[in-house]
Amino acid sequence: MKFFLLALLTTTVLFGAKVVDVDEKYQDSQKCKVCHLRIVDEWSNSWHSKSHFANDEYFRQSMKYVSKKTRKSLNSVKVQCATCHNPRISVTSTGEDYEIAAIMGLDKGSKVDKAVNSKSISEGVNCVVCHNIDKIHDEYNDKKRGINRVEWTPSGTMTGPFKDAVSPYHKTIHHDFMDKTPNKMCFVCHANDRSVKGLVFTNMQKEYKGSKTCVECHMGPKRKDVASTYKMRGNKAKIRQVRNHSFAGAHITSMWKDALRLKLSKKGKNILVTISNPQPHNLPSGFGSREILVELVYKNGEKVIESKTISLSRHYTRKRAKPTIAHLAKKQTKDTSIPADGKRVLKISKVAGATSVEVTLSYRLVNDEVRSLLKLQEPRWSQKSFIAKDEIRY
Ligand code: HEC
Ligand code: HEC
Ligand code: HEC
Ligand code: HEC
Ligand code: HEC
Repeated sequence: MKFFLLALLTTTVLFGAKVVDVDEKYQDSQKCKVCHLRIVDEWSNSWHSKSHFANDEYFRQSMKYVSKKTRKSLNSVKVQCATCHNPRISVTSTGEDYEIAAIMGLDKGSKVDKAVNSKSISEGVNCVVCHNIDKIHDEYNDKKRGINRVEWTPSGTMTGPFKDAVSPYHKTIHHDFMDKTPNKMCFVCHANDRSVKGLVFTNMQKEYKGSKTCVECHMGPKRKDVASTYKMRGNKAKIRQVRNHSFAGAHITSMWKDALRLKLSKKGKNILVTISNPQPHNLPSGFGSREILVELVYKNGEKVIESKTISLSRHYTRKRAKPTIAHLAKKQTKDTSIPADGKRVLKISKVAGATSVEVTLSYRLVNDEVRSLLKLQEPRWSQKSFIAKDEIRY
């Protein structure tokens, strides 16, 4: 019995997320500004800085929806999603007792309530998320992500790419996942996201092809600049090889131009639309319900005869085949994304009276179904980002 208890205890310590409080000196990016202004500005424009529910309508509405449909308190859902969206949260799970307190309205001022509303997590995936990772447990079960996959450095120790960095404000430590194997760090969160029913609706790690690193594209190429403007002991600040912290991705319209390639050809009575993806991960990828639109305009000369749109998106269902969002899904429709370093070919028929067809590819962050389920208001969710266009005569 004693042995059993001991074994139980060690496994919780080993596999449970361990919280390390971050001293106020390091909690938010404002504290880093005097010496790392460029990086703080770049990061502020990234969607990592918007991963907190206050700053992302889609995320906020999704949590409310999950809470409503699972009859779990909103705070419990917030704690659950914080695993990757706010990993410096001080409470990592909630139990039945909390649910009861929440229903009775007795949770105000509780540990959980304080944790989800704390200013210290309001920046989401900020500096002290990535730069306080001390260990990544690749040997853990694939399900364990975000906070459950890492160990934190002591407060005030920054993990970085340089072996010889010295700072007057914080300690520094080098780890290979900061320069040699950065994908390992990105996959702490960008992999194996699953629904409450255990359906894995995204797994970038599994679909990844080739040896390119995420940072080469999403943090741009290495270039010469200072990592910190602080002059150690009156010396000049060191010139380093640095990257950009804006993590430009799917929310930035200009990033989509030419992200996929489009080729049109004729085959018998049909037109073949070949969409190829030179990137090392599928597109759309990552979060579910993203959408690629294929718009077809059939023309005779300049006159439009007919137009139609094909949507390449994944749809999710719950009980009794009711449409839902990825996080609640029991089932998903066939994967229509364009595979990493691969292609998808659509066969479209010709239209009588038309002599040519014009094809436009674009991307949307959220498909119609989920946008209406969640009642998203901000225009960005329905905005089309242009990818490519071509025309063929027949
Ligand atoms: C999503 C993870 C992530 C977040 C968030 C993040 N960084 Fe980084 N940071 C990295 C990676 C990865 C590198 C290494 C890039 C390389 O050189 O390949 C890096 C490099 C650095 C460097 C070394 C110089 C450079 O630019 O390469 C400094 C200094 C730094 N980060 C500071 C910060 C500060 C300050 C913040 C918050 C405003 C921050 N980082 C947020 C991942 C992150
Ligand atoms: C008083 C100035 C100062 C402040 C404030 C400061 N840093 Fe630094 N930091 C430095 C200096 C100097 C370096 C070393 C630069 C070099 O060697 O090129 C550095 C290096 C780093 C590195 C790279 C470490 C490595 O080993 O590669 C990271 C990451 C970092 N800082 C993060 C932060 C974060 C996050 C904050 C805010 C919580 C912060 N810094 C606040 C001065 C500062
Ligand atoms: C602690 C978890 C975590 C880590 C580690 C992490 N990310 Fe993220 N990342 C997120 C979350 C959460 C979002 C979504 C934020 C939102 O949209 O509200 C995101 C968003 C992004 C986006 C924007 C995608 C879009 O749809 O516009 C890019 C690009 C990205 N991450 C790249 C990276 C790269 C590259 C690394 C590794 C250097 C990395 N991330 C590490 C959690 C993480
Ligand atoms: C060869 C360049 C390249 C590499 C390497 C790369 N990406 Fe991307 N990624 C893109 C392009 C291009 C897009 C589509 C336009 C955009 O969002 O920037 C994209 C989109 C994304 C998106 C949004 C997907 C969507 O459909 O909404 C995420 C998240 C992302 N990348 C994360 C990562 C992560 C994490 C890695 C490493 C495991 C990585 N990327 C490696 C080029 C790259
Ligand atoms: C395994 C880590 C992980 C967990 C846990 C997680 N997310 Fe995310 N989430 C991400 C990453 C990484 C992205 C960015 C991927 C992308 O942009 O394609 C993201 C993006 C999103 C987005 C898209 C935001 C945007 O601006 O487009 C929504 C909505 C979202 N998550 C909702 C949730 C909800 C609700 C929960 C809790 C029920 C949750 N997530 C839990 C990792 C996670």
